Amino acid sequence: MFLKCYEFLVASLPLQRGNMSDWLYSDTVKDHFTSPRNVLLEDESSFEYDAKGQTGNIKCGDQMLMLLKINDDVITDVRWKTYGCASAIASTSMLSETIKGMKLEDAYKIRPEDLVVKLGGLPSFKIHCSVLGDKALRAAIDNYLEKTGRAGIFVEETTIICHCLGITDKDIENAFQNGARSWEQLQQATKIGTVCGSCKEKAADILHGFEHIYGS
Ligand code: FES
Repeated sequence: MFLKCYEFLVASLPLQRGNMSDWLYSDTVKDHFTSPRNVLLEDESSFEYDAKGQTGNIKCGDQMLMLLKINDDVITDVRWKTYGCASAIASTSMLSETIKGMKLEDAYKIRPEDLVVKLGGLPSFKIHCSVLGDKALRAAIDNYLEKTGRAGIFVEETTIICHCLGITDKDIENAFQNGARSWEQLQQATKIGTVCGSCKEKAADILHGFEHIYGS
């Protein structure tokens, strides 16, 4: 079961470790995680919705539920609930404000990077947390498209991580889902990093981020 977001706010405050500047949250992030918008405070039956998306893995503590009200392919209202950290809460709160009034097709294209910019940045090692809301949103839209007989009409946008070989974040996700957990396993599955090697750090971060979404 999901717990309510507010229960995680105190537990999610950054610990003092390493370089403190790495842990600084922008005022926008603080605002959204102390006053998250559009949170589902009761159970699902308290909100009349047309589409439901869920992502994450409770074993590692990050999980997200998103409910959408849709009219004429426009998102008219949204509620969400997470078992996630402060960054997941802030980015999903921002996402929920962003998508109201948006066409499904445009909402489907929102990327975590867009939310990070709107939030005024996130600590670098928390950026993967912003992916949760984004994935739950696309799951909800996919759910709606399936219900309305239009499954698969939108395609998720990808970002190239390894420019030498054209390997995307989606390729890394697929490799993770097929069992790659270490850099070596990722490299074996995709050949990523075998030319100039400059993509290694970013790719390894992305791979690690999927543990928070799917469990290790
Ligand atoms: S950018 Fe990946 S090997 Fe060069």
